[in-house]
Amino acid sequence: MAEKIIIDTDPGIDDAFAIFYALRSAAFDVLGLTTVYGNASVEQTTHNALALVAAADRACPVARGASDPMEIERRAYPTMVHGEDGMGGCAPETVSGSVIDQHAVDFIIETVRAHPGEVTLVPIGPLTNIGLALQKDPGLASLTKRVVLMGGAAQLNGNVTPAAEANIYDDPHAAEMVFSADWEVVMLGLDATHDVHLTENTVAELAREGGAQGRFLQQASAQYFGFHRDVVGLDFCHFHDPSALIYCVRPDLFTVQPSSVRVVTDGFAAGKTVAKPDSRFTGQAGWEKRARVSVCLAADGYAVIEHYVSAMQAKPSAAGT
Ligand code: RIB
Ligand code: CA
Repeated sequence: MAEKIIIDTDPGIDDAFAIFYALRSAAFDVLGLTTVYGNASVEQTTHNALALVAAADRACPVARGASDPMEIERRAYPTMVHGEDGMGGCAPETVSGSVIDQHAVDFIIETVRAHPGEVTLVPIGPLTNIGLALQKDPGLASLTKRVVLMGGAAQLNGNVTPAAEANIYDDPHAAEMVFSADWEVVMLGLDATHDVHLTENTVAELAREGGAQGRFLQQASAQYFGFHRDVVGLDFCHFHDPSALIYCVRPDLFTVQPSSVRVVTDGFAAGKTVAKPDSRFTGQAGWEKRARVSVCLAADGYAVIEHYVSAMQAKPSAAGT
């Protein structure tokens, strides 16, 4: 039975890899994409989401979401990583589709309430839309099947600051709302994605065998690899967003630790995710009655990449099956 999902996204190069994978997989019934600022403006990420849906040849609603964080000032877009257009300079000038006439937050609430207990939220950008949805509809958490998010770092440094991973850093207040609501959360953070290395050779294989989508991903990711090579000093990039979708299909490829997670919301460590394993006693107040979080501490990186490549080489499933 395909898992009903809503992908909340800020495309974004790694978001593009994730969206193409989800839209072609029989494992998912993608009920919609909701867009958010992050790798670029929400106008640009929405444009990119529409372009990716068109390139995937799928009928998938796209709902535009938040343009700014809930409380803090939005940081500058990481154009050096994802390009001015969020797509490595490969975003098309025009797109064929258009957004639905409903805000992302209302789309999330309405869709979850239409399928109580069946919808998985897969946020792979800043958590602002999810925080706003919880604020608008406090009953949302108990009606959501689960949240599988890309974000955070439990035992590693961050990637935007020494403390914070980008998606949490962008809106720490929204993240704290997500990790304190009454639902099941999978935190697919840097602890796991740093085990998953995407190389230019693998992307060249996708371009040879993954059709037009593979060729687009190779063109769009050239700048992304350049940033990792020239600035980070790596000859690969970490496969962040696709790992969250792959977790939904192959959780056996990840090592998880049942935990509670709290988010630092201000000061120099703002955006830090602090995980307390369920097995660990503390006398400190504030850890009780929070989201039940499976923190991913590691991944079988080779198997995750192998799974992705074979999924992209396979014939796409019939839409919506
Ligand atoms: O830290 C990685 C995350 O930040 C990914 O979701 C990437 O797309 C950026 O949004
Ligand atoms: Ca993203």
